[in-house]
Amino acid sequence: MASERIFIQAIRRYCADHGIAVDVHASGWLVAMRRGKTRRFAFGYDIGLNSAIAHRLANDKSATAEALALEGVPCIPHHLFLNPKLGKNVVGPTWRGAMLELLHGHPQGVVVKPNEGTSGRSVFKVTTEAELDHAVGEVFSMSAGLVISPYVAIEDEVRVVLLDDVPLVVYGKQRGRDWRHNLDAGAKPVLLESGEVRTACVKLAIEAARAIGIAFASIDVVRVDADWCVLEINSGVMMESLAKLHPELVQATYDAALDRVFAGR
Ligand SMILES: Nc1ncnc2c1ncn2[C@@H]1O[C@H](COP(=O)(O)OP(=O)(O)OP(=O)(O)O)[C@@H](O)[C@H]1O
Ligand SMILES: [Mg+2]
Repeated sequence: MASERIFIQAIRRYCADHGIAVDVHASGWLVAMRRGKTRRFAFGYDIGLNSAIAHRLANDKSATAEALALEGVPCIPHHLFLNPKLGKNVVGPTWRGAMLELLHGHPQGVVVKPNEGTSGRSVFKVTTEAELDHAVGEVFSMSAGLVISPYVAIEDEVRVVLLDDVPLVVYGKQRGRDWRHNLDAGAKPVLLESGEVRTACVKLAIEAARAIGIAFASIDVVRVDADWCVLEINSGVMMESLAKLHPELVQATYDAALDRVFAGR
């Protein structure tokens, strides 16, 4: 059997220490917790602290970018294209033309990826029409929506885990050989010392969290041309790779979140 996710191990540890009964369902995706009459669930990497709407906005890269832009929070634009397989009533005939316009409007290239993230899988950098068609085919083979962003040269990428405006974890993603910063793609997490960079990232992450009303989230911010802007917000806080280097920090973060889950209203 594959070993249990860190997320589940952390929940088990917390529950054991707090007299909470825990049931992990077969796939490991659903966790049911009970203390007395209080019933709580965790699902996927969602610990249950965020409102339904905040969760939906965060899970949708284009909705996140729109909501942040409305609040004047700097972010990478994400243009949404729905899968033509959804039908002619949903998706008009002009989608490919609009994609080509975006491609030709950005000589440095564009990035094509699923609207709902997949830990860096199916993220394509595209500079030609042939590459665009290939990327779009790949993403639409598995996703209902894709997003196109201008390709930007990311100088640094930082992840901030926030619980109610409090930064619990802040780390930089040190890229491997790939152009992407996903830890799954070999990037290494390096905790940030207090200082100018950390302060700037935390401030921006808090603005972003407030803009969509999210309580517990990991927020990715990137430095482009010396300025910080938001790349994405994840409503599920996944720390599988970070836990290999900093297990206590990861446990403490989930502990703080679970304290909130069981604090009552
Ligand atoms: N517009 C862009 N320009 C340059 N690099 C990008 C751009 N968009 C994404 N990237 C790189 O690709 C990586 C993955 O992109 P992103 O985080 O948006 O998708 P994801 O990882 O699939 O989503 P999720 O984290 O929600 O699963 C980023 O960490 C970043 O390094
Ligand atoms: Mg990501």
